Amino acid sequence: MKDIFIFKSNKIDKIISINYNIWNKKLFNTYKKSLERNTNGVCLEGEVMPISTIEWHEGKVRLIDQTLLPNELKYIECDTVEELWEAIKSLRVRGAPAIGIAGALGAVLGIWKYQAKNFSEFNKKLIEVTDYLAASRPTAVNLFWALNRIKSVAEANKESDPLKLKYILLAEAQKIIEEDKAICRAIGRNGAELIKDGDSILTHCNAGGLATADYGTALAIIFSAHEQGKKISVFADETRPLLQGARLTTWELMQAGIEVTLICDNMSAQVMKEGRINCVIVGADRIAANGDTANKIGTYNVAILAKEHKIPFYVAAPTSTFDMSLATGDLIPIEQRNPEEITEGFGRRVAPPGVKVYNPAFDVTPARLIDAIITEKGIIRQPFTKNLIELFT
Ligand code: MRU
Repeated sequence: MKDIFIFKSNKIDKIISINYNIWNKKLFNTYKKSLERNTNGVCLEGEVMPISTIEWHEGKVRLIDQTLLPNELKYIECDTVEELWEAIKSLRVRGAPAIGIAGALGAVLGIWKYQAKNFSEFNKKLIEVTDYLAASRPTAVNLFWALNRIKSVAEANKESDPLKLKYILLAEAQKIIEEDKAICRAIGRNGAELIKDGDSILTHCNAGGLATADYGTALAIIFSAHEQGKKISVFADETRPLLQGARLTTWELMQAGIEVTLICDNMSAQVMKEGRINCVIVGADRIAANGDTANKIGTYNVAILAKEHKIPFYVAAPTSTFDMSLATGDLIPIEQRNPEEITEGFGRRVAPPGVKVYNPAFDVTPARLIDAIITEKGIIRQPFTKNLIELFT
């Protein structure tokens, strides 16, 4: 993996964005003059580097290393499918739609330098690569959706020369990225209808631009309402154990100039009881045919609390996050992660060595706790089983 450029800042208000996503253009203009050039850097002071969360760049996959945010905005390039697998596994690239994009680009990366004599050889290699990538993270269905889409396009173009086929698959991966951008904006527009001027919104984990090609899903609704001129504020759960809320969500919202307050995960009940929350909006990693929704661990707790306090609970997700082959959320595979994320996350031991740990990365919120699911195709309400069949047929 190669570092391509790094911008460091010790102060949160000095974090520098390099044309990172469209919504933070204003901040970029403010700070672009102060861009520092890293020794490995390719970006000159004041230069605009057009780059998104993840993209294809000259035979490599370039992505923001999200494990370093908010202290460093660093872009890395993955040269091999093994490097990309590691980037997905260790959450350098994360969030369901972004993992899907990483899978599609990774499939292309895996066959890019391979010289196949015919389709059969090409396809054998492609299946090997996609099976390998599929084993990186099990919960977000977008990964499998994107890998299947790439495999189907290869199959549909089996008559093409293997060299040409590589470019066909790259074009498909690029199409997934462009579609994701449009989908996120549609989710934002659709969801913004539910947000009133003055609302205060609770969110969990990070379902923002970093979790997608750009703009996000749950945060897209917040960005969109803000762009419509509604005055809104956000409470962000820190999201133990890897702090996606504290590190990433607050970072994105601050760049967009949206008022955000960080709370620990165990504070949301009190914040709701104090009447500080008008609605909850979260993203999703996989939604079953009955509306049961897998999302970052802790989402289920928030949904129960929202029900108790009579606060609407919304899920925002593209249709690629639905898994209509699973009747209920009980069938969604839940990723188990390394115990050290809890016992010594971010390099500091906080529990005795050898302590037994349970570390599921996701939980499943039952459909009955969800008021609406906001997709690019519109807002889906209860009864989900019936309404989702209509949406997908
Ligand atoms: O483990 P992560 O950080 O990949 O988990 C991400 C989430 O749970 C997000 O809420 C979800 O993927 C929605 S992303 C738009």
